Amino acid sequence: VGHIDDVQELRKIRPKTIPERFVRDMSERPTPAITLSPPSSDMPVIDFSKLTKGNTEQIQTETLKLADACESWGFFQVLNHEVDLTLMEIMEKSSREFFMLPLEEKQKYQMAPGTVQGYGQAFVFSEDQKLDWCNMFALGIEPQFIRNPNLWPKKPATFSETVEVYSREMRKVCQNLLKYIGLGLGLEGDVFEKMFGVAVQAIRMNYYPPCSRPDLVLGLSPHSDGSALTVLQQAKGSPVGLQILKDQTWLPLQLIPNALLINIGDTIEVLTNGKYKSVEHRAVAHKDKDRLSIVTFYAPSYEVELSPMQEFVDEKNTCKYRRYNHGEYSKHYVTNKLQGKKTLDFAK
Ligand code: SIN
Ligand code: FE2
Repeated sequence: VGHIDDVQELRKIRPKTIPERFVRDMSERPTPAITLSPPSSDMPVIDFSKLTKGNTEQIQTETLKLADACESWGFFQVLNHEVDLTLMEIMEKSSREFFMLPLEEKQKYQMAPGTVQGYGQAFVFSEDQKLDWCNMFALGIEPQFIRNPNLWPKKPATFSETVEVYSREMRKVCQNLLKYIGLGLGLEGDVFEKMFGVAVQAIRMNYYPPCSRPDLVLGLSPHSDGSALTVLQQAKGSPVGLQILKDQTWLPLQLIPNALLINIGDTIEVLTNGKYKSVEHRAVAHKDKDRLSIVTFYAPSYEVELSPMQEFVDEKNTCKYRRYNHGEYSKHYVTNKLQGKKTLDFAK
């Protein structure tokens, strides 16, 4: 991705121009009928503190709610998540500061072609592929060996430290949620923890500059997540941008301030044999507002072999996925363009 393909630079130099590489085919464009549909008010909201600190009855009720959210939505918001709001704010502020650095500074951490860590646009593999109206900065977090120290920014000064502290908090959120997701499925609370080993964790910040023609572009191409669980924090003041495919309609998500947005990824879809679905989503750009999201991906260790758990396979629900190695799936995921749920065909 060259100079002129960097959306922030484009916006500065030629604010009214949308280069051909960003202009989507008619069928992919966010048509007005879709972007104007009412924001979702009925997406489930989980009170995390009821799971971790509630009495037996509250835990039970909230676990059922969580199970229902996973089964009927695949996306839900979490309140009272125990992550320090100041930490979330600092994370937002430093991410924003990073994206506002001069291009040359950010390019010190340039994503190498075919990789997904660093600054740039991931999932781009050919010249004729359309580009997203977005800049990304991504880092592998855990286990340590997936880290590339050269990609951890020196500027802003406290950025790397903030990412570190923030990621530890997000790991706890994922571990806790997976425990109750397991229980809600009628399994043992530690079933995923035991199965996943030392879980792989990554972080990606998505910065979407304003776009003079949001009707022509996509902020982020439709995809499902290759993780087990994804946690998204949307920066304060961000406009609605994320949309999920619900009942064949793109539904814009209006997020509660300070809440975390969680979604089920491909791993859980496979393990539950499709009982819980990894829901397709995309982001759209906005005419005069920028948007920032900070996304944590939590997934099994690479050596883990995955297949639908026997609890979810019977005569009525035949086995939908084959057994495969998660490391190979990850590799498949990051070496293909984002294209809806097509990446999951790997497991069929
Ligand atoms: C994502 O799917 O990774 C993030 C979409 C968003 O920015 O809301
Ligand atoms: Fe995603």
